[in-house]
Amino acid sequence: MRVHVADHPLVTHKLTVLRDRTTSSPTFRALTSELVTLLAYEATRSVRTVPVVIDTPVARTEGVAIADPKPIVVPILRAGLGMLEGMTTLLPSAEVGFLGMVRDEETLEPAVYAERLPADLHDRQCFVIDPMLATGGSLIAAIEYLFDRGAVDVTAVCLLAAPEGLEAVERATAGREVTVVLGALDERLNERGYIVPGLGDAGDRLYGTV
Ligand code: PRP
Ligand code: URA
Repeated sequence: MRVHVADHPLVTHKLTVLRDRTTSSPTFRALTSELVTLLAYEATRSVRTVPVVIDTPVARTEGVAIADPKPIVVPILRAGLGMLEGMTTLLPSAEVGFLGMVRDEETLEPAVYAERLPADLHDRQCFVIDPMLATGGSLIAAIEYLFDRGAVDVTAVCLLAAPEGLEAVERATAGREVTVVLGALDERLNERGYIVPGLGDAGDRLYGTV
């Protein structure tokens, strides 16, 4: 598994405001979008392209276009939805699939409650977006879902991760083509499975249900 942790003052600055408990939901949503766009730049570094020839007003030249089949972006509902616009701003031709998952706050086990994905993901580059990688249970389940449908290449974009969860994803996906792009790798998980220092419950903060 490849892991890339953003090392950029703008990412750290925006994460600092995001973490602050006094930040309002509208600001939280705006910052999430901005952060995703910064992380998507790194996450899409290996997006497949094909050469194309175009005419500028001055000369004929070679460039690239995003290859077919187009990549697919999969937000994990609910919190991942807050990252969708930032991701599709950078990858407007991507298809979007949805996975609804909720973590049982007692057992910390994820459960799938909704799914709208193409049945066949053979040869598709998949980008999973979810702000929080805590125990890793939700991301592992999402990646397994995509591999079961034929995906061969999954990149996850998360704002924050706990080391315990990142290690769990690495163990569960050994031998697979998986990349994780993070805004920051935090200290640890607490006894309730929350990322420390973290930012609290991302879904609640995005959608004002605190
Ligand atoms: C949060 C988060 C991840 C998951 C991370 O979602 O957005 O999907 O928890 O935890 P894990 O790594 O321990 O599985 P949650 O289940 O709270 O649902 P929500 O997005 O609807 O708030
Ligand atoms: N889900 C969240 O939204 N936050 C955490 O810290 C852990 C799981």
